[in-house]
Amino acid sequence: MQAVITIARDFIVGIIDRRIYGSFIEHLGRAVYGGIYEPGHPKADAQGFRTDVLGLIKKLNVPVVRYPGGNYVSAFRWEDSVGPREQRPRRLDLAWRTTEPNEFGLNEFMEWTKAAGTEPMMALNLGTRGIDAARNLVEYCNHPGGSYWSDLRKSHGAAAPHGISLWCLGNEMDGPWQIGHKTASEYGRTAAETAKALKCFDPGLELVVCGSSYSSMPTFPEWEAEVLDHVYEHIEYISLHQYFTNHDDDIASFLASSLEMDRFITTVASVCDYVKSKKRSTKDVHLSFDEWNVWFHSNEADAELEPWSVAPPQLEDVYTLEDALMAGCALNTLINHADRVKIACLAQLVNVIAPIMTETGGPAWEQTIYWPCYYASRYGRGTAMQVSVDVPCYETRDHGEVPYIDVSAVLSQDHRELTLFLVNRHQEIRIPIDVICWGLEGFSITEWVELTHPDSKAVNTREHPRNVAPKQRRAKPGEVVQLEPLSWNMVRFGRK
Ligand code: AHR
Repeated sequence: MQAVITIARDFIVGIIDRRIYGSFIEHLGRAVYGGIYEPGHPKADAQGFRTDVLGLIKKLNVPVVRYPGGNYVSAFRWEDSVGPREQRPRRLDLAWRTTEPNEFGLNEFMEWTKAAGTEPMMALNLGTRGIDAARNLVEYCNHPGGSYWSDLRKSHGAAAPHGISLWCLGNEMDGPWQIGHKTASEYGRTAAETAKALKCFDPGLELVVCGSSYSSMPTFPEWEAEVLDHVYEHIEYISLHQYFTNHDDDIASFLASSLEMDRFITTVASVCDYVKSKKRSTKDVHLSFDEWNVWFHSNEADAELEPWSVAPPQLEDVYTLEDALMAGCALNTLINHADRVKIACLAQLVNVIAPIMTETGGPAWEQTIYWPCYYASRYGRGTAMQVSVDVPCYETRDHGEVPYIDVSAVLSQDHRELTLFLVNRHQEIRIPIDVICWGLEGFSITEWVELTHPDSKAVNTREHPRNVAPKQRRAKPGEVVQLEPLSWNMVRFGRK
């Protein structure tokens, strides 16, 4: 078996928006408390931010972090999270059935984004609240001063406006589990009027409207069509969310779930274009895939948790090599749709279905899924190239025929480097690759990084944090690269 990969200089998908390598911090489980914020931890700085966690996040080079939810945002009172800490109320969070102490809030998050070298993507509560709370929050954050809300921010110690440009109009409003769940017409109207009010304040804001929570929602894609009908001219992006599961341990189908992600993207893009034509609009709406990841390992443990505690260990999936391969396939899918997907957030960033795990009071380490994200964020910037792969397929239960090799290709901005990200989905066979580049002469291999393990269920733990870790492979010029069964790979080519 062999994979022939063909790339041609003039056949491109599009320029990759750096924001596709974003992530997400929700007030959920130990993401904030015991994750990014833990005053008293030996590695905490003066603001209580864990510097060991910050180090791992900076290495990931995360351009944007969505906050503060998620389901959490749909009953969130933002005013509770600002002002003197000792006056902030403790609130019951009905979404995750915990107690939120509000010790870490909006202004602390903004300080943290500076320390992490990232930008905020702020979500608004369109569940229990609406236009008024949204416009007040935006004024609090972004107005320089001389108005009630901006002066309140200044009195809270944040003299300069935060300048947050990217805002989500609620979260998963199509989901019956959401507090304040709405029908498409209820939500479409609310989102349109909220967007109009925010654009009156600042026409330069970038707004993300809620699409479907999953492509398997019964209201998909009618939800998108109806919501966009109301809001099309007022927003820039529509959201997509998808979580991958492998409950019945069918690796072949699990690793093919990225094909469903691919179809989801194509369908939402078509609905956007349909509404664009219907409205005779000249504007394109792009996609924000602002929640994606593997999520299923922690489901049983979460069902056992006692309600109303502070920062319990919720959604703490411990990821295997298989999950890292799935993350690699999802990243390839995002890159391969760089023309339409302009924002994407790995959900989430620390402890909660996350690439980074911590022990409260103890160390922090990289989970398996950290590694494909790290390399994609670092080397997957530039132009996404169209890739043709000639390789045998296999039959799956859930996704039909699926090629054994999954790939994306990125040409650097200066055209001096070509990087391939590859997953071998085959469980037994090593597959050699033959890369043919048209119009891209003079390239030879400069680096080959491989992530694999003899046990596909292998994980990283506090005791063995580098059990599943990338290895540099050697490929001499002219030598054929062979992809190990169940492996993720990055192969870089440079011009002499
Ligand atoms: O990321 C975990 C949860 O998944 C988010 O809170 C919600 O938006 C989604 O259902």
